[in-house]
Amino acid sequence: MLVTGGAGFIGSHIVDRCLERGCETVVVDNLSTGKREHIHPDAAFYHADIRSCELHRIMDGERPDVVVHHAAQIDVQQSIANPLEDAAINISGTINLLKASVSAGAGKFIYASSAAVYGAPAALPIAEDHAKAPASFYGVSKYAPEYYIRTFSSLYGIDCTILRYANVYGVRQDPKGEGGVISIFLDRMLRGLPLRVFGDGTQTRDFIYVGDVAEANVQAMSRGGGRVINIGTSAAVSLNGLIEAFEAVLGKKQEVSYEDARAGDILHSSLDNRLAREHLDWTPKVDLSQGLKLIYDYYAPRYAANKIEEAVRAVNGRQTALAAT
Ligand SMILES: NC(=O)c1ccc[n+]([C@@H]2O[C@H](COP(=O)([O-])OP(=O)(O)OC[C@H]3O[C@@H](n4cnc5c(N)ncnc54)[C@H](O)[C@@H]3O)[C@@H](O)[C@H]2O)c1
Repeated sequence: MLVTGGAGFIGSHIVDRCLERGCETVVVDNLSTGKREHIHPDAAFYHADIRSCELHRIMDGERPDVVVHHAAQIDVQQSIANPLEDAAINISGTINLLKASVSAGAGKFIYASSAAVYGAPAALPIAEDHAKAPASFYGVSKYAPEYYIRTFSSLYGIDCTILRYANVYGVRQDPKGEGGVISIFLDRMLRGLPLRVFGDGTQTRDFIYVGDVAEANVQAMSRGGGRVINIGTSAAVSLNGLIEAFEAVLGKKQEVSYEDARAGDILHSSLDNRLAREHLDWTPKVDLSQGLKLIYDYYAPRYAANKIEEAVRAVNGRQTALAAT
């Protein structure tokens, strides 16, 4: 199996899970946002761009049976600032990978699509056949490859499953820049900073734990052929509700600053997961409070250890400065 974006947040969890199941796993990633330390040591790693010619050499050498495509430009605001670059990675990169997959004889292509393809929903939870009206170039660049994948599939016979994710959260999600709201909130809470909410906090999201998303990919390796399938919880949680859930985990109130809503942000979202239950034999296993507790328990001691290290460095620095005077 070959995972593009396997050094990234979601891709690295898929790699871990596949290796746990004894599946040989190859990672292709250009490390633009991914991190080498996220790649499981038992995975073969190629530091390469999905847009490159090198990708074809890698695929021809590895000849993976399944290609799991997660490499992407994922930042909505970046897609609005630089739609050409966003399209080059998400659309042209996917076409290059599809060509390489077909010529390397891959049997199945699994694609990480997004709730962003739907735009503002007419009704919740959103089913797969809901109208598609992306509100950002990111939504467009995640949607266009769905057509390329289906067309490659019908022209060349490669099987495919398109998974449209809700808001994924969990360990390894980068809180810097435009990371997911949960990783950003947790980072600010652990640094004692107020939470920033764009809008009034009544906007809703469907938060799905990364372990459940990894499991959906594993299930899709042998199921869900030719289908587009939402991966979410079917539930909508407001940002204010999320803050309350975090407060319950931390056992204290958080300071919140409300700022202007941003262009391109969807107001409400939750994905109907009926098809995932039916065709992938999948259900989400980790609910929001369990998931928040898992990431809090993982990061809280690490942030505390970092704080101690910083304090020791500051004291050592002061002593060196004093000794020099
Ligand atoms: N995180 C979410 O909530 C969410 C929701 C819906 C869909 N998705 C999709 O899931 C996939 C993974 O997202 P993520 O949150 O793990 O993001 P991420 O940024 O952590 O992972 C993306 C990975 O792709 C790599 N990459 C980027 N451009 C590349 C290129 N040109 N060539 C090779 N590698 C490249 C990055 O280095 C990174 O490791 C993306 O396709 C994203 O659109 C994510």
